[in-house]
Amino acid sequence: MDRFYKQMLQNNRDWVQRKLSEDPNYFTKLAKGQKPPLLWIGCADSRVPANQIIDAPPGEVFVHRNIANMVIHTDMNMLSVLDYAVNVLHIKHVVVCGHYGCGGVQAAMGNQSFGLIDNWIRHIKNIYRLHKEELDNIEDEKERFDRFVEINVIEQVYDLAKTSIVQNAWRNGEDLMLHGWAYGVDTGIVKDLNVNIANQSQLDETYQLRI
Ligand code: CO
Repeated sequence: MDRFYKQMLQNNRDWVQRKLSEDPNYFTKLAKGQKPPLLWIGCADSRVPANQIIDAPPGEVFVHRNIANMVIHTDMNMLSVLDYAVNVLHIKHVVVCGHYGCGGVQAAMGNQSFGLIDNWIRHIKNIYRLHKEELDNIEDEKERFDRFVEINVIEQVYDLAKTSIVQNAWRNGEDLMLHGWAYGVDTGIVKDLNVNIANQSQLDETYQLRI
């Protein structure tokens, strides 16, 4: 095995020792169960690790990550995570966290083919088409890219609100709020995009389900 691989396992042992020296019951306490207040839907990008960015300890964040932090309503993986988080864990906040410089979003701005992933990226292309006027009017390419990252996050937050899972939760009086963030890989700073959805009336009528 190479050095990197061995080092990962060694790092784990070191971390366990460190944690136990701070609190001998650290892991036995965690083993009792989880009650995270937050569901994080983020990009798979290695530079955007959910817990580290918000300095959250184990047990605080329920995490789902995929390429370009997408909420695709036929994605059983995403739906299962969302359903469990909302209906079993009763989490209070869902954050969709995108990031500037996102390769998935960048791919959607261009026409190059990357293979199978083109089919995933196409969901992001649909967002571009929806906001083509605003985006095409931004002359600076970097600025356009940054804005597209933000718009994509906002659309994913709305896509969460459109799910039967979230609308059911609101109907049942659950205190559930959806948010959108954009993370700066080059600054470490999270920008709150101020898209906070907490009830059905914030949705276009087309998507409001009578439950
Ligand atoms: Co990304």
